[in-house]
Amino acid sequence: MSAGVTVRVPAKVNVQLSVGGVRPDGYHDLANVFLAVGLHDEVTVTPADTLTISCSGPDAGQVPLDRSNLAARAAELLAARHGIEPNVHIHIAKDIPVAGGMAGGSADGAGALLACDTLWGLGSPQSELLGICAELGSDVPFSLVGGAALGTGRGERLTVLPVGGDLHWVFAVADGGLSTPAVYREFDRLNEGVDVPAPVASPDLLDALRTGDAGALAGALVNDLQPAALSLRPSLAATLTAGTDAGALAALVSGSGPTTAFLAKDADTAEHIVEALLASGSCRTARVAQSPARGATVL
Ligand code: C5P
Repeated sequence: MSAGVTVRVPAKVNVQLSVGGVRPDGYHDLANVFLAVGLHDEVTVTPADTLTISCSGPDAGQVPLDRSNLAARAAELLAARHGIEPNVHIHIAKDIPVAGGMAGGSADGAGALLACDTLWGLGSPQSELLGICAELGSDVPFSLVGGAALGTGRGERLTVLPVGGDLHWVFAVADGGLSTPAVYREFDRLNEGVDVPAPVASPDLLDALRTGDAGALAGALVNDLQPAALSLRPSLAATLTAGTDAGALAALVSGSGPTTAFLAKDADTAEHIVEALLASGSCRTARVAQSPARGATVL
């Protein structure tokens, strides 16, 4: 039996998440600027008699271990394309918050895809892997490429973006997750009767990313899903305030939440914000992470 293959894959924060009106297919057009951050899951695939999944880590109990897991679906889709059986055991060593708005499930899908492609010796071109990622979910292609990228369409059409320097982030993890479809539904409810403009990437934000200027980026962060996440989870307002009071340059909900993200001017300030958030009692835990981070990588 051949040895397993392990892939390391990062979480993301959306530095711009501009959301258009609901489309006929139920999705929303986005101008979605993804930034990969240094919190990672590791996905290991090993040959097995049938497709099975296991998960370890503090929040492993919240991860589905059936075929609804994007990692399992990735193995099935890739195997079907090549007329082979997806007979692997997938182990997810989980460090990305579950249902937290940091694309942890998408990361596992991209990780399993690359791991299976490597284990089975397929050598699929990146374009083919990206196509499968887009079938798996709107955020999955970005988990594969990492770094920074603008996602248009429903977020799956990527343009790689330059990043001028390292940025220091703090992530506050809330108790329990938020369902992404539920947050989009709440966005639709809050915008009922409103003529929602077509989303466009912010030139100021792209400039700030390109120069790596944390102060300028702080002033340009956008998350149109934040009011919806706060409406469903009003307690997040206290977390945002606690981080800002502790010296964050900016605070925002990460994606559909409920994880909240804080931009710090340097590593020391980031550590101070973590301590203040923990002392505030307004989150379950808080961690530092730097950006950018590499996309899915075979270890
Ligand atoms: O693409 P994915 O399966 O990750 O999307 C999860 C859900 O999030 C969708 O079913 C939809 O409700 C919502 N969504 C959306 N518009 C997007 C991306 C996601 O409405 N651009």
